[in-house]
Amino acid sequence: VDPTLALTPPMGFNNWNTTGCDINEQMIRDMADIFVTKGLKDAGYQYVNVDDCWADATRDPATGRLRHHPVRFPSGMKALADYIHARGLKFGIYTSAGVQTCAKTMPGALDHEEIDAQTFADWGVDYLKYDNCNNEGRPALERYTKMRDALKKTGRPIVYSICEWGQNKPWEWGKGVGHLWRTTGDINDTWSKTVEILKLNAPLDAYAGPGHWNDPDMLEVGNGRQTTVEYRSHFALWSIMAAPLLIGADLRKVSAEHLDILRNKEIIAVNQDRLGVQGKVIHQKDGHWVFVKPLANGDKTVALFNESEVNATISTSARAVGLPASVGYTVRDLWQGKNFQSAGQISASLPPHGTAIFRVKASQDWYRHEPAIDTSLDVA
Ligand code: GLA
Repeated sequence: VDPTLALTPPMGFNNWNTTGCDINEQMIRDMADIFVTKGLKDAGYQYVNVDDCWADATRDPATGRLRHHPVRFPSGMKALADYIHARGLKFGIYTSAGVQTCAKTMPGALDHEEIDAQTFADWGVDYLKYDNCNNEGRPALERYTKMRDALKKTGRPIVYSICEWGQNKPWEWGKGVGHLWRTTGDINDTWSKTVEILKLNAPLDAYAGPGHWNDPDMLEVGNGRQTTVEYRSHFALWSIMAAPLLIGADLRKVSAEHLDILRNKEIIAVNQDRLGVQGKVIHQKDGHWVFVKPLANGDKTVALFNESEVNATISTSARAVGLPASVGYTVRDLWQGKNFQSAGQISASLPPHGTAIFRVKASQDWYRHEPAIDTSLDVA
């Protein structure tokens, strides 16, 4: 794979978490329009992706090619790609490395890798999510490598998302095969599932980097079954983990408050930082977590997460997160968009399930970099 296609985690939309199979082309077009009109494109969201159930149940008997679902996508996938491209966005599609996809409504690409990759390329597909259902027990590496090679053969740059649910430890072989790999089973719009996935994905930080990312699944922010505090945590934690940011809510229905979570540019900048390091857990005890993500300009991002069911003050220090010694530090609260000065303490009082996220720098840089104090006037 060409790592330059995903030097930072992919950002976009996928319909699965909100619609499941019940998808149609108008909804996808509306998402592309909303990306433009509501500032999501400006914030960095780029891929507009269709999940399972977009195709007809059978291949074209004459050509062996997949066909669009006649009711859900009456205008066809090429027309949809064109619509999305006309808005300066990119188009993603889905299939499975199996005989059928997971919903079993359409054929998968197993043993049809080349013709399907070519069909996608012909339509103008920019991103493929390649699922794992109905794989006939055939080896994962072989199945995922075959599609990688088929995509490459088309000559079209296509981001390649391996959806193997963390089975067969894709983080150990995924780099060079795909741009991202799922580290877990499916997310859903509950707090308990979000935390379960967080715990599986967080320890895998060493495997992520520019062009190859851990994928703890798509966002649930805005789908309505969690609190605003919980959605903020979900977004901040996915961002500091350098996870792909694929919006999973119907943007026509998302509240302004939840939309603002998804559009927080300073948190997105943490996720998209070009150093491409997945934040690391440096403390986790009694449901109190500290994550640190180094950034390209030397700043550190620090997330303080209260997993517990009671209010808590969680603290760390500038030195503990790896910043150099300094007489002071500037701590920027990325939810509040406010700076404060600190002698080194980084701390937040958090409600149950809450997360504070800060960007921290040594505020007295001059103190270290200025020439030594001039002592030539000293009289001996
Ligand atoms: C699997 C994937 C999901 C979604 C569904 C579609 O469960 O992990 O993300 O794509 O299939 O059927």
